[in-house]
Amino acid sequence: RKDVLRLTTGSNNLDSLLGGGLETQSITEFFGEFGSGKTQIMHQLAVNCTMPEEKGGFNSDVLIIDTENTFRPERIIQMSKYRELDSDEVLRRIHVARAYNSHHQILLGEKASEMAKEYNAKLLIVDSLTSHFRSEYMGRGSLSERQQLLNRHMHDLLRFGTLQNAVIAVTNQVAARPDVFFGDPTAPIGGNIVGHTATFRIYLRKGKAGKRIARLIDSPYLPEGEAVIQVSEDGIID
Ligand code: GTP
Ligand code: MG
Repeated sequence: RKDVLRLTTGSNNLDSLLGGGLETQSITEFFGEFGSGKTQIMHQLAVNCTMPEEKGGFNSDVLIIDTENTFRPERIIQMSKYRELDSDEVLRRIHVARAYNSHHQILLGEKASEMAKEYNAKLLIVDSLTSHFRSEYMGRGSLSERQQLLNRHMHDLLRFGTLQNAVIAVTNQVAARPDVFFGDPTAPIGGNIVGHTATFRIYLRKGKAGKRIARLIDSPYLPEGEAVIQVSEDGIID
C-alpha cells in the first residue's frame, strides 16, 4: 500500500504506540466498556483531521456515522479552542449522519463509498459500529446473519478508505454477554469478523484520575504495547 498517511490522535503517547498516528486505507477499531473514552477520541480525531498537515492533520472534511446520537458540537468547540482552531470552520467541515438502525447504517456506508470521490473527506468515523447490530440481532439464531452484514458493511467502509486514502475509525463496546463470548470478558462485539477486518485494534480501559490506558492488540507489524492518555476538557492529551 503506497501513500499511506497518518492522522494524529492528539496524544503523543498514543501516536507513538501506533507508529505515528492512525493509518489511512485501514480500519482502526477502538473498543472498551462504556465511558472508556471511545466517543471522546472520535470527536478529537474529527477536529484533528481538519488541522493542517504540519500539525498532524489532513486539512480535510470528516464524515461521521453516528448511531447512538452522541455527537456533541459543544465538545468540538472546546477541543478546537484548545488547539487554537476556528471552531466554526471546524464544525463546518464535520458532516454528521445519524443512522437510525443497522439497515440505515449500511446504506450510509454504501453511499459514502459510492460518493467517495465527490468528498474531500479523509476521515470516516462510525460511532458505534456495532450497537444497532447488537440490539437488532439477538441470540445465536441470528448471529451468522449479523456477522455477514457487519462484514459487508466493513468492506464498504474499507473501500471508502482506499478510494479516498482516508482513515476509517470505528468504535465497539465490550460484550456484556458472557454466554456468547464465553471465557473472554474483554471480547468485543462482532467477534471474529470485526477483528479480522479491522487492521488496528485498540482496547481502552479506565485508569486513575481521568486517565485511560490504550492497548494495541493483534497489529500486523507494530509491537503490542500500551499508552496512557487523558480524556480532559481540552480533549485527548498525554
Ligand atoms: P459508550 O459509548 O457508552 O460505550 O462510552 P464511550 O467509550 O464512548 O465513552 P465516552 O467517550 O463518551 O467517555 C465519557 C467520559 O469522557 C466521561 O465519563 C468523562 O470521563 C469524559 N469526558 C467527556 N466529556 C468530558 C469533558 O468535557 N471534560 C472532561 N474532563 N471529561 C469528559
Ligand atoms: Mg460512545
